[in-house]
Amino acid sequence: MSGGVYGGDEVGALVFDMGSYSFRAGYAGEDTPKAEIPTHVGVVDDIEMKMETDGGDTPAPPDKKYLIDTVYMKHARKDMELVSFLKEGMVENWDIFEKVMDYVYSRSIKSESCLHPLLMSEPAWNTKNKREKMTEIMFEKYNIPAFFLCKNSVLSAFANGRSTALILDSGATHTSAVPVYDGYVLTQGIVKSPLAGEFIIQECRKMMEELGVEVVPPYLISSKEAVPDKQPPKWKKKENVDVTKSFANYMEKDVLQDFAASILQVCDSPYDPSVVDTMPSVHYEFPNGYNQDFSSDRFKVCEGLFDPSIVKEAQGNSMLGVGHVVTTSVGMCDIDIRPSLYGGVIVVGGNSLINGFTDRLNRDLGNKTPPSMRLKVIAAASSAERRFSSWIGGSILASLGSFQQMWVSKQEYEEGGKGCVERKCP
Ligand SMILES: Nc1ncnc2c1ncn2[C@@H]1O[C@H](COP(=O)(O)OP(=O)(O)OP(=O)(O)O)[C@@H](O)[C@H]1O
Ligand SMILES: [Mg+2]
Repeated sequence: MSGGVYGGDEVGALVFDMGSYSFRAGYAGEDTPKAEIPTHVGVVDDIEMKMETDGGDTPAPPDKKYLIDTVYMKHARKDMELVSFLKEGMVENWDIFEKVMDYVYSRSIKSESCLHPLLMSEPAWNTKNKREKMTEIMFEKYNIPAFFLCKNSVLSAFANGRSTALILDSGATHTSAVPVYDGYVLTQGIVKSPLAGEFIIQECRKMMEELGVEVVPPYLISSKEAVPDKQPPKWKKKENVDVTKSFANYMEKDVLQDFAASILQVCDSPYDPSVVDTMPSVHYEFPNGYNQDFSSDRFKVCEGLFDPSIVKEAQGNSMLGVGHVVTTSVGMCDIDIRPSLYGGVIVVGGNSLINGFTDRLNRDLGNKTPPSMRLKVIAAASSAERRFSSWIGGSILASLGSFQQMWVSKQEYEEGGKGCVERKCP
């Protein structure tokens, strides 16, 4: 364990990075987070726990039981709803957030919150109220010794060794471009588009419907047999599986996510049927044994990311393709700093791992920027560096000697109140 020196004692600072898809937690100074848990949590009414009455007739609302982390929330269970505590990347349900924090400290980190300074990431558009509430909960409920909130885009820039860059983050719910200058976010240049991982999953689902491929998640399968290419699958359904819509939906998405990561490919240049027909196909086997080759479809499905005009739902809508997200963002920044932003377009987020994503972005940007502009698209080669970039940036920042004076200490919080986060964490 490593970390900063805080208050004279050697302690391990923690870094928490929350996204709509997963929550990454671990010790500052390490290369990767110790734990990654889904942001979705299973919620069931705990009828056994409470059936009290207030004087007689009206039953008290049942207590809730929360099922956190893959093993528990991906286990089929009657009446379990899967819900997220985030909305637009910001905490929406604070009760569930606290349940997840309890779990992360006790089960993932296996230590007490009062022992570790905490650096937490936040989206660039987080609100003042939510930042203050977070600060309050962490100091009051978790009794942490020191706290720091930092924009995830700034952390991604640091992870790539820069303090000025344009961060293009394509995650689960949105693709955003955030200009970072000298370690600060230029808020006027933030641009967001809903074309990201969830959109790709939606497109895959539509494609399966068109192809007549039934997507069956493993929890419904009791046995299967090998079948030849494109033949009807031979599998047996598990009896008496009764789940909620939210669970069925999440598990189906899980299958499609694996499909997307293994099969999809973004074309180098705008989708052209005569070109993609000559490209190699890739074989994929679904959990129920159905298998086939995918050829032109695997290019078509992700074209909408870069060219929303081909997406039916996007017509007449202002959704921006990935290249446009970048150029619009840079265009809203001062003309003097545009060269330094184009000179460091850093690509992060899980959805950017779709094969061909960076090449296509490079090409689209090359076509959209003047030839005199030096363009550099930077993307870490390893998927961990791309998916955990803001966590890694936090890990680096929190272990720098020069950062140690930046923490909001418990004493500062007690003297100045929750508003201190606005002063100390820009
Ligand atoms: N290898 C891969 N290929 C394609 N897509 C991937 C791959 N790995 C992850 N994804 C997709 O990336 C998304 C998750 O990305 P990421 O972890 O950056 O999101 P997040 O930060 O939790 O969410 P957000 O930024 O939207 O709040 C999911 O939609 C997932 O399907
Ligand atoms: Mg993210």
